[in-house]
Amino acid sequence: MEPKLTWIEIQDHIGWIKINREKKLNALNRDLINQLHQGLLDFQNDPNVRVIILTGNGDKAFVAGADIAEFSSYTPEQASLLTREGNQVLFDFVANMEKPVIAAINGYALGGGLELAMACHLRIAAEHAKMGLPEVSLGIIPGYGGTQRLPALVGRGRAMEMILSGDMIGAEKAYQWGLVNRVVPGDQLLEAAISMAERMMKNAPQSLKNAIKAINAADGTPKGFENEGILFSSCFGTEEFNEGITAFLEKRKPKF
Ligand code: CAA
Repeated sequence: MEPKLTWIEIQDHIGWIKINREKKLNALNRDLINQLHQGLLDFQNDPNVRVIILTGNGDKAFVAGADIAEFSSYTPEQASLLTREGNQVLFDFVANMEKPVIAAINGYALGGGLELAMACHLRIAAEHAKMGLPEVSLGIIPGYGGTQRLPALVGRGRAMEMILSGDMIGAEKAYQWGLVNRVVPGDQLLEAAISMAERMMKNAPQSLKNAIKAINAADGTPKGFENEGILFSSCFGTEEFNEGITAFLEKRKPKF
């Protein structure tokens, strides 16, 4: 394993993961994917961590994609394994984390990099960030969930345009299209991510977990509604429920 491709730290209940492969624009190779998985898993299991912020080192790239050199000679069978394993240990894993994961997009988020940002629950972009799914220019298509998550965020027409052209869009357009939640000047990116994290951390952790689950299962069918009902009712009678409801009735702030 390449050493230290991620920088991991906990500060004030925020779990920080900084991708640290700057010379290769933080491109995702196998080791990096595994190190990200381990960091996320540790944060998932650590009750001291309430929200996770994922960002890239430097101001040039969040992640410039899957590592093209690594898969350049793959067969279809190897590619199939790559996408299945990658989704399992990183992309779907992030999307299904039980704590909010915020992507702080500090530069290029391309291919697997944008797919990683889209797997996060929220995205904040630096003004200079550029986003795109350029895979068709390499003779492939997005393989880490991009054809599924992009239409869900920006709509089918815009997703078609981005994926079929392979062109990048800037942060402002990404905001207008609903691809990112906020755009801020680059030097305020981490501060903005912390302030978003703080807004979530005042809420009940179990409720955040159930809300993420319910939203992830939203598919507009009766099943999605039924699932929401199950998760909604499972909040009742919990310690957090008692604290949240009692605090409201006693006209004070809850302590979760
Ligand atoms: N994989 C491997 N290496 C990468 C990389 C990637 N995705 N992106 C950048 N790098 C490497 C470059 O090869 C270069 O390495 P060397 O210095 O050793 O030559 C280094 O990072 C710096 O990159 P550039 O010199 O290219 O920097 P630039 O400023 O000229 O260009 C860029 C920046 C426009 C982002 C350009 O690097 C680029 O186009 N990168 C590739 C983007 C891309 O196609 N991403 C999709 C990958 S495929 C994918 O993600 C598949 C999937 O869905 C599963």
